[in-house]
Amino acid sequence: MIKKKGQYIRLDTAATTLVIRADTAEYLYYGQRLGGGDIAAIPSAGKKLFSCPGTNDYTEYSLLFESADGGFAADLQFSKARVLAEKPEIPGLPSSYGDGKTLELKYVDAASRLSLFLYYTAFDNSDVIAVSSKLVNGTRKPVRLRRLMSLQLDLTGDYSVVTFDGGWARERQRHERDAGCGIFVNDSKSGYSSHAHNPFIEVKNEYGVYGFNLVYSGNHKETVERGTDGRTRVLVGINDYMFDWALPVGESFYAPEAVMCWAPDEDALSLRMHAFVGEHIVRGKWKRRERPVLVNNWEGTYFDFNEEKLLSIAAAAKEAGAELFVLDDGWFGHRNDDTSSLGDWYDNVEKTGGGLASLADKVRAMGLSFGIWVEPEMISEDSDLYRAHPNYAMKLPGRKPVRLRNQLMLNMADERVQNFVVRTICDVIARSNADYVKWDFNRSMTDCYGKGIPAGEYFHRYMLGYYRVVCKITKRFPFVLFEGCAGGGGRLDLGSLCFFSQYWTSDNTDARERIAIQSGTSYGYPQTVMGAHVSACPNHQTGASNSLEARFNVACEGLLGYELDLTKLSEEERAEIASQISFYKENRKLLQFGDHYRLQGKNTAGFITVSKDRNGAIAVVNLLEWHPGDPAPCIRLKGLNPAANYEVSVREGDWVRCIGGDVLMQADIPLPGLFDFEAAKRWSGGIMSRMYILRRQRS
Ligand code: DGJ
Repeated sequence: MIKKKGQYIRLDTAATTLVIRADTAEYLYYGQRLGGGDIAAIPSAGKKLFSCPGTNDYTEYSLLFESADGGFAADLQFSKARVLAEKPEIPGLPSSYGDGKTLELKYVDAASRLSLFLYYTAFDNSDVIAVSSKLVNGTRKPVRLRRLMSLQLDLTGDYSVVTFDGGWARERQRHERDAGCGIFVNDSKSGYSSHAHNPFIEVKNEYGVYGFNLVYSGNHKETVERGTDGRTRVLVGINDYMFDWALPVGESFYAPEAVMCWAPDEDALSLRMHAFVGEHIVRGKWKRRERPVLVNNWEGTYFDFNEEKLLSIAAAAKEAGAELFVLDDGWFGHRNDDTSSLGDWYDNVEKTGGGLASLADKVRAMGLSFGIWVEPEMISEDSDLYRAHPNYAMKLPGRKPVRLRNQLMLNMADERVQNFVVRTICDVIARSNADYVKWDFNRSMTDCYGKGIPAGEYFHRYMLGYYRVVCKITKRFPFVLFEGCAGGGGRLDLGSLCFFSQYWTSDNTDARERIAIQSGTSYGYPQTVMGAHVSACPNHQTGASNSLEARFNVACEGLLGYELDLTKLSEEERAEIASQISFYKENRKLLQFGDHYRLQGKNTAGFITVSKDRNGAIAVVNLLEWHPGDPAPCIRLKGLNPAANYEVSVREGDWVRCIGGDVLMQADIPLPGLFDFEAAKRWSGGIMSRMYILRRQRS
């Protein structure tokens, strides 16, 4: 809700309030929802909505441009404020959606006639405020834009910064440090949001926590700067690394949308971000819809398969109760390893037994849906595409390109390349009549170059091209379930989730490792988007062994799948998997759409998902380490109704007891029956995991 009183504007969500003073371009307040007091009485603390060089504010600025006369300074003064009835779309870029009146603020530099527009939309039901900005060149000469951040938030006080960092197979590990005095930067320069630093960050102190994210999948930058004047400035936007955009006369540059949220603690912040992603980012048929249990052949076969092998896995998948069979990498061109064929999106008839269409029909005849893997933005030098169009590849003239995973990238900034990708990928989906598509992206950008594209514009033009392509393809197949993937979860960000309703969280399928990866991901993203698969034992990434029960329990934190050769398992294991899938389907709504909380204890980690009415919950507790003589592990649950009694049972076991919600949440309790200490004595280093089912007792 937006209320305007002269120059004072108040944006409310259910639990937060943002107060802006338009004429002085200031934030007066952002945090827990205010009562009905006079907002004009809030004293100014000099917290600005934007900043540019040329003033005595020497903190990192949100806007930098060079005018035709070579000057960098801008004196942007208030011009007007209005409330738009609908949230405007951002041309060429994905953004959040939903009923949201939007505040538009305009500031003009009188000398140059350059205008800065800021947009604020408050989403009541998730307590998130979406912010974006636009620069319009009203001058008589082109200007060069060097930086336009999407969001600036000035705060007072001392903060710590939480980021989610890692690499391939270890995405989104949580790190917290004192912001200190000076500048802290979280960013990506590799052309995609990256495995290294996710754009979601938190800025925390004893009064609460602010969360920030960017609806963008390219180079991003979040800075937190504690100035010597006691202000802490947060900037979120496109990375200005190598960024230099020529803005012709009369044209606009649109920065991607950023989002911010305040909450009293990290658990509450996650719930708000989850609601926001579920309601205002994920869209189309799969929004709020239960996701199918899939079986993917990647870790089961890698590139080594034929029709018979695939159909035998599919048959076992059907028998176990899975709903979707996904054919991963290796079905096209002459691809038998990762050195060839990317770009040749035609069927390898030998490996698929006559092509995708016939394979898909056979899978469907078994009663399963059919899904297909593609990696549309890539090209192998050993491909017909490269032989015919070497200039489609992203590479610098006269230089040997950097090969990563033996492949090059396509120059998606080029419209001809975009059209090629749209045409060929649409054809793959249409000819296989796919129900699901896994869109992979397995390398970072290196030789950024496209003929005629200025170097300073390349990264962003790539993103605009990529979004054009993915938008066209997903619109053409509105019923298909698209899952994003980038060598695991390297491009899991809000921009991706506007097109892909779910995302492959990590190539690391080891249960122990997954606990940290999924927990880190869950700070900013809901379990409804996290692909989580049970894979073979010993695990292919770590060599570690974990019980089938532990692997299943951990995968239940996300969207359940199996990624192993089911035909190689014993009868007992297949029966166990069938019972896991049947349990998951029965409880899928709760697991996928309940309120998700992380559970953390001494040597334990897991999660609990609570139904919206708090009458039911499922908790998974994993004991990460155990030594003989250790006291019984204790747990403390979250999100339950403190006034209710719950019947608590163990999924694999006969222990049942009725316990109050308050006790379960307020006491560290060593629940009897939690762990099998006989098994623990024979501990082989794997995690010990239990799933608890909680049902509210009717009094
Ligand atoms: C990386 C993905 O994350 C894997 O799941 C798999 O699809 C491979 N690529 C295939 O090359």
